Amino acid sequence: MTDSLPANHKALVQEVYAKPLVVKSIPTPRPTPGSAVIEILHAPIISYTRDVYNGKRKYPYPTPLVTGASAIGRVAATGPDATLLKEGDLVYFDCTIRGRDDSSAIILAGIAESGTEGSRILFHGEWRDGTFAEYAKVPLENVFVLDEKRLCGKPADGGLGYQLEQMSWLLQVLVPYGGLKSIGLQAGETVIVAPATGGFGSAAVVIALAMGARVIAMGRSAEKLADLKALSSRVETVQMTGELGSDVAALKKFGKINAFLDISPAEAEGSTHFKAAILSLAPEGRVSLMGGLLNDVAIPHRFVMRFDITLRGKWMYSRADILSLIDMMTAGVLNFRDIVNIRGTYNLEDWEKALELAANSGKLGELVVFSP
Ligand SMILES: NC(=O)c1ccc[n+]([C@@H]2O[C@H](COP(=O)([O-])OP(=O)(O)OC[C@H]3O[C@@H](n4cnc5c(N)ncnc54)[C@H](OP(=O)(O)O)[C@@H]3O)[C@@H](O)[C@H]2O)c1
Repeated sequence: MTDSLPANHKALVQEVYAKPLVVKSIPTPRPTPGSAVIEILHAPIISYTRDVYNGKRKYPYPTPLVTGASAIGRVAATGPDATLLKEGDLVYFDCTIRGRDDSSAIILAGIAESGTEGSRILFHGEWRDGTFAEYAKVPLENVFVLDEKRLCGKPADGGLGYQLEQMSWLLQVLVPYGGLKSIGLQAGETVIVAPATGGFGSAAVVIALAMGARVIAMGRSAEKLADLKALSSRVETVQMTGELGSDVAALKKFGKINAFLDISPAEAEGSTHFKAAILSLAPEGRVSLMGGLLNDVAIPHRFVMRFDITLRGKWMYSRADILSLIDMMTAGVLNFRDIVNIRGTYNLEDWEKALELAANSGKLGELVVFSP
């Protein structure tokens, strides 16, 4: 049913790479085979969104572009081959779009292509636009139905009591889940998360706990580490000192460590936490490299060789990871209702204020959203 779609809708557009964004009225997309059009309810703004669109992060993407990444929305219309989605369903749309004939061709719609010919084809063709808009046309396989009654219902009625906005934190928690699953984190294991005090880093602590692990959170700020420690008796913290020997000793104090999730931003290049975390691992330890470092990093090669350490890179996560994370959330095994704090809800016209607040957020559970 495309009749209910308006002819035009509002979107936050970048006309020229790295230039200021503008709110524009543009034609509302229509569903085609293999796609759905969703009405965007809440689109999360990750902490460094401003640095993506002002060009500082040098993310590759074409313009003009409707900005934005993932979102919570409602199905407004579906293509003829939709077998599950129905108009009005509450859904999570995930921006990690893969080639249907080559799952290694990946783009983050509205944010970045990955430099391969396959990702260029995806981004310059069918799937370009993001979710800072009233509507978005998205691939069917990127739309995940949420059990609204269970997730948003009152606890007295068997619900989990989430506000709709809070559920857009799924984007933050999915990234570290992808990394932790890729190195097979098991319940009862101990994992270092470093740095653990940013948006994705703090979400990593929350999901590692839900996966049954004990977490050693490393960070620079004692105050932010204290917030993480308060999450559970299974969280230990280590404040980075910049001195390798002291950091290794502080980590090893906690006994056997099985895994390390690296979620370093480019600014952390050269920080000793990276090497300290690797050197603290037990034999056969596993490392998930998820950080956004731009330059090569020195690896303690002899240690990695001698102790059978596995280093595994990971960008984002799979469709199966999204389904299992939503299952964990629906079952209540992962519960971030009391963790996620909506710091601001903005309309598209207030994009500068929204991106500014997001840049000054990113601590445990802090979330800023567009509600177009
Ligand atoms: N592989 C993937 O799929 C994937 C997906 C999304 C993001 N990423 C990468 O993950 C990175 C981190 O994300 P985020 O949301 O946690 O970022 P964020 O919210 O910007 O937080 C940055 C984190 O890095 C710490 N940090 C900054 N400079 C540092 C330094 N010089 N030494 C040590 N720690 C430092 C911060 O500590 P303070 O709290 O003390 O400031 C904070 O914990 C992003 O920059 C991105 O490149 C990867």
